[in-house]
Amino acid sequence: MALDLVRKPDLLAEAMTEAARLVEAQLDALLPVPEAAEARLIEAMRYACLNGGKRLRAFLVMETAKLFTVNVTCAARVAAAVEMLHAYSLVHDDLPAMDDDDLRRGQPSCHKKFDEATAILAGDALQTRAFEVLAEEDTHADAEARCELISAFALASGARGMVGGQMIDMLAEGKQLSGPEITRLQALKTGRLIQFSAEAGAILGRAPQAQRHFIAAYGRELGGAFQIYDDVLDEAGSAEDIGKTVGKDAAQGKATMVSILGLDRARAQAEHLADQAAQHLESFGERAELLKLLARFTVTRKS
Ligand code: IPE
Ligand code: IPE
Ligand code: MG
Ligand code: MG
Ligand code: MG
Repeated sequence: MALDLVRKPDLLAEAMTEAARLVEAQLDALLPVPEAAEARLIEAMRYACLNGGKRLRAFLVMETAKLFTVNVTCAARVAAAVEMLHAYSLVHDDLPAMDDDDLRRGQPSCHKKFDEATAILAGDALQTRAFEVLAEEDTHADAEARCELISAFALASGARGMVGGQMIDMLAEGKQLSGPEITRLQALKTGRLIQFSAEAGAILGRAPQAQRHFIAAYGRELGGAFQIYDDVLDEAGSAEDIGKTVGKDAAQGKATMVSILGLDRARAQAEHLADQAAQHLESFGERAELLKLLARFTVTRKS
């Protein structure tokens, strides 16, 4: 038992490394640099999505896809699409007009490495490339499944998901939001895409509704835990570990759980949500072990 407990984080780390390897190979193949005048755009896109990152969303896609015996290449393509969209959200989030962050994944942000116009365009093109990849036949033989993926992805990314959440985040700077208001802000800006990443495996695998429901509930709680812990790391992490500037949320007056609850209670809330996330996977038994470990990782990670 003791040995088992020691081995478990290793198993998750190994599985996450493998998912990262698969998704990075896909990203590399899906974003070839043309010998054309627009090459700089694709170089910036590659810089934004092939420069590290935990690949947590990719892992979620790959691991839920395993639960429903989905072909690995199909899953890796969806994982690559999600990582492209996520990378676009980070490139735009770092722009001077938004969080004005010079450091991302331990390197200069895209607009620092290139320039603002290139960063805006790279974000735009990463987003459209992501949808294009989902629409291609290699992603799923069944057009209905592809359509379902695309509409769920659009919902998670747009005004009712990530972009809507980013709008609330910007409007909330310097204001005090209530707990429920912050929960909604975070569910939109971060939660929806994480939930989609979990659900994507079930959509690809044409899983029955009851099972999809549990996966969606897991993704929802995990997304909540993830953003609260991101805010904890902004306050309590080290720049070296997180590869981002620390203390920016407080400096910019961001509405976070840390700002209204303090570090300890925010941490406790993230842990509570992570436990709840894992509970939703009980009916999958051992097969969902890594996804349960991922919930724990989300609220214990250093970066
Ligand atoms: C950071 O996401 C942005 C948030 C939504 C909080 P991640 O912490 O997953 O960033 P990477 O992909 O590992 O760099
Ligand atoms: C950003 O949240 C969430 C996105 C949709 C990009 P943050 O602004 O807290 O993300 P970091 O801390 O810059 O990665
Ligand atoms: Mg932000
Ligand atoms: Mg930011
Ligand atoms: Mg943050």
